[in-house]
Amino acid sequence: MKQSTESGYTIVPRPDLDFGLDGDIPKYWFGGDAFKTRFFDAMSTLFPEGEKFFISCVRDFRDQVTDPALQQQVKDFMRQEAQHGRVHVKFNDRLLAQGIRVDLIEAKSRGIFKWFRAHTPAKLTLAQTAAAEHMTAIMAHSFFDRRDVFADADARIRAMYIWHGVEEIEHKAVAFDVLKNVAQASYFTRIFAFAYVSALFPLHVFSIMRHMFQVDGFSFGERLGLWVRGLRWLYGWNGLYRPMMRHYLAYFRPGFHPWQDGEMSAYQRWIEAFERTGNPVSAGDIAYSGA
Ligand SMILES: [Fe+2]
Ligand SMILES: [Fe+2]
Repeated sequence: MKQSTESGYTIVPRPDLDFGLDGDIPKYWFGGDAFKTRFFDAMSTLFPEGEKFFISCVRDFRDQVTDPALQQQVKDFMRQEAQHGRVHVKFNDRLLAQGIRVDLIEAKSRGIFKWFRAHTPAKLTLAQTAAAEHMTAIMAHSFFDRRDVFADADARIRAMYIWHGVEEIEHKAVAFDVLKNVAQASYFTRIFAFAYVSALFPLHVFSIMRHMFQVDGFSFGERLGLWVRGLRWLYGWNGLYRPMMRHYLAYFRPGFHPWQDGEMSAYQRWIEAFERTGNPVSAGDIAYSGA
């Protein structure tokens, strides 16, 4: 039986969804904008290895979970993350065909994750996982909060990210609950990992985008323009990140718990639309358009 989370939401693994990723999708699928497209493409190249890492870090403590509700949530969390990895592998094949060295990017990510697992305590790598889960959850919430931002994106890829976001929201507290209730990590461990994940994650994404822009054949001047406009899109006053800051900073509160914040009406719309249509692309459109 599926186990509801503390908030009443259920973690539902949804295998075999078809987003139509084999279709004729433009290279710069995000409104023809190379920066916006490559920002999400770069994240996609990190997901398969990243989600394997998250699964391993939670699995380290799985045998110590005694609460049956949390045991079931851990299981469903793993199934969701494994499925995300599979869909992003498929998506990343498109990038490989464009000349992006997804193989090298993945080898580098694998090396980083392997280093952390070999040289730091399991409690700290679990804290890293909880930190990354907080970041993916706030990005997922922002997908729904800032619907204007994604208006120009290809509906199929947007639907893939919305589905991924929906499931990130459903399981957003699992790694955190294992960290707090099972591993009994201190506040310092939780925040220390959050601080370095916050610094390393964007640097890693930007280094991948740098490679992508080179493969795309942009001149130095064009790349400079892309970075100036793109960083403003991310960090500017009306940028993607500003509305997320409040949720981001909430993680520093000693009594923080992931279910304390985040807008849920669009999530609910997606669930209802998916139940009605069984089609993740239509559900993405309906959740996104607010219909
Ligand atoms: Fe995921
Ligand atoms: Fe996740």
